[in-house]
Amino acid sequence: MKILITGSNGLLGQKIVRQLKKNNKFFLATSLGENRNPDCPNSFYRSLDISNQDQVNKVIMDYHPDAVIHTAAITNVDYCETNPDLCHEVNVTATAYLFEAAQQVGAHFSALSTDFVFDGKKGNYKESDQPNPLSVYANSKVDAERILINSAYKNWSIIRTIIVFGEGNNLSRSNIVLWAKEALSSGKELNIIDDQFRAPTWADDLAWACIKIAELHKTGVYHISGPETFSIYELVLRVAKSCGLDTKSLNKTTSESLNQAAKRPPKTGFDLSKAYVEIDYRPMSFEDSLKLLFSV
Ligand SMILES: NC(=O)c1ccc[n+]([C@@H]2O[C@H](COP(=O)([O-])OP(=O)(O)OC[C@H]3O[C@@H](n4cnc5c(N)ncnc54)[C@H](OP(=O)(O)O)[C@@H]3O)[C@@H](O)[C@H]2O)c1
Repeated sequence: MKILITGSNGLLGQKIVRQLKKNNKFFLATSLGENRNPDCPNSFYRSLDISNQDQVNKVIMDYHPDAVIHTAAITNVDYCETNPDLCHEVNVTATAYLFEAAQQVGAHFSALSTDFVFDGKKGNYKESDQPNPLSVYANSKVDAERILINSAYKNWSIIRTIIVFGEGNNLSRSNIVLWAKEALSSGKELNIIDDQFRAPTWADDLAWACIKIAELHKTGVYHISGPETFSIYELVLRVAKSCGLDTKSLNKTTSESLNQAAKRPPKTGFDLSKAYVEIDYRPMSFEDSLKLLFSV
């Protein structure tokens, strides 16, 4: 079984590569820039701009994968809001190129998506709940999902996830847990929102689920996140507790006060029943994953 990964320099891509390599699986890692992942030998890596259809076709026809795990995206939600054309080109058009090429070689195709497809009024979302995106980024992910959902080719899965955290090498952006530890350590006054609720996802658990879904050629939509939903304020408190850091500098604030370009759903979180039953997904508790993360 040969797996091709897009976005292998990203947080999730790095974790997928690490697990595949550790288990001696066959894979080709691809990402936009040079290989920045020390876990990935250069001989297993090809630079690939997924928004270039010729490059996409060439790499997929040459490697002829059995499965493609498509993690690459423009993931900065506020950047997407002010750069909607680039967001559409990379998150939607390029997904169509990859999906088409995967069909040509008969490969299973998994596309990463987000809890932001929902409006956040309800929380604890099931795969069957109706999307109602609030931002350019969220719309791009819904559009990409629809390419798969509306296709006659059914050998695909959509893997939706929620704020992913973990360590990686030379990542283009940090994640909330690493940021929280650093910000708490600085002792500066911190205003943290208490009106957005999420189920933070340990990147290693998500990578495990992506590989399992690809290897089993599972089809349809899967919700994959951490097991517990809580506010961002509580997340920062829990990080502080886990690292033995002081919380005196923490203040509660509201989303409105942040003045962010993109609107966020207030409450997400997933019902994980389908993943429990179908792929035996058993995510680690937030506290246990923090212990692993900060013991490195
Ligand atoms: N992180 C989260 O909290 C979160 C939450 C929900 C959903 N997701 C989804 O999960 C997936 C993985 O997220 P992540 O956190 O691992 O993302 P990430 O760390 O931001 O990495 C994304 C990768 O996409 C690559 N990329 C961007 N434009 C590209 C292009 N034109 N051609 C090829 N590669 C390109 C970048 O490659 P280079 O580094 O080589 O430039 C980057 O490493 C994404 O689809 C994201 O939308 C993430």
